[in-house]
Amino acid sequence: MNKNLFSTVIPGIFCILYACGNGSAPSNSEKAGASAAAVNYTNECSSCHGRSGNLMMGGAKDLTRSVLSKDEVVAIISGGKGMMPGFKDKFSAQQIDELAVYAESLRK
Ligand code: HEC
Repeated sequence: MNKNLFSTVIPGIFCILYACGNGSAPSNSEKAGASAAAVNYTNECSSCHGRSGNLMMGGAKDLTRSVLSKDEVVAIISGGKGMMPGFKDKFSAQQIDELAVYAESLRK
């Protein structure tokens, strides 16, 4: 009886500790970050860049054709460039990072 209890309870505990069956699925916070970035992009960026990144309003670069590195994109989003305002006072470093990932995801 005791032995039986162990063989069912112990694997159950391991399962809880290591979140079994949830291996490579994105965590909830990653999903939340991605959808928050999509909302921030729509609100703050799409007026110049467009929902799909290729509106090019007022000289805005076509994000679908951007070849910049992630670091360069982060730098432009935080500090601005040319006619583009910087967003470091509006967004946290984490939000800017997520916006950079989002902007890169618009590339074709
Ligand atoms: C007022 C219009 C405007 C807004 C709002 C704006 N941008 Fe821009 N963006 C520009 C312009 C203009 C450039 C080109 C800057 C240059 O190279 O002179 C640019 C360039 C960029 C680039 C560099 C692309 C490349 O390959 O050179 C990225 C990335 C970018 N914007 C992302 C964003 C994101 C993300 C947001 C929202 C947080 C945003 N932009 C908001 C106008 C805007």
